[in-house]
Amino acid sequence: YSIPFTTWDDHKVMVDAKPGQNLMEVAKAAGLPSIEGICGGQLECATCHVYLPPTTPVHPPTEAEEDMLEYAIGRKEGESRLGCQIQVTPELVEWFRREGKDIK
Ligand code: FES
Repeated sequence: YSIPFTTWDDHKVMVDAKPGQNLMEVAKAAGLPSIEGICGGQLECATCHVYLPPTTPVHPPTEAEEDMLEYAIGRKEGESRLGCQIQVTPELVEWFRREGKDIK
């Protein structure tokens, strides 16, 4: 699979992704510099902050994710998520392909 990201300096890149990985892992594996994932997905850092298009078919954030999102710089209501909490699924990949949107 591949998932479209727009980097902080406005380049669109297709990033390799496997089901079961999360968005922080795929972004790190691709070397996207704005997604650090310092805590390794433990909900302790918010350095995996991403913006998802508002209609992306993903589960709502848990309370723990909401709490950590408070620390995300430039948080946008309805778009900000922690990449480590979003799993890659075939449905998600298909949705991005169909909608032509991307993750920032
Ligand atoms: Fe630290 Fe997601 S990697 S909160």
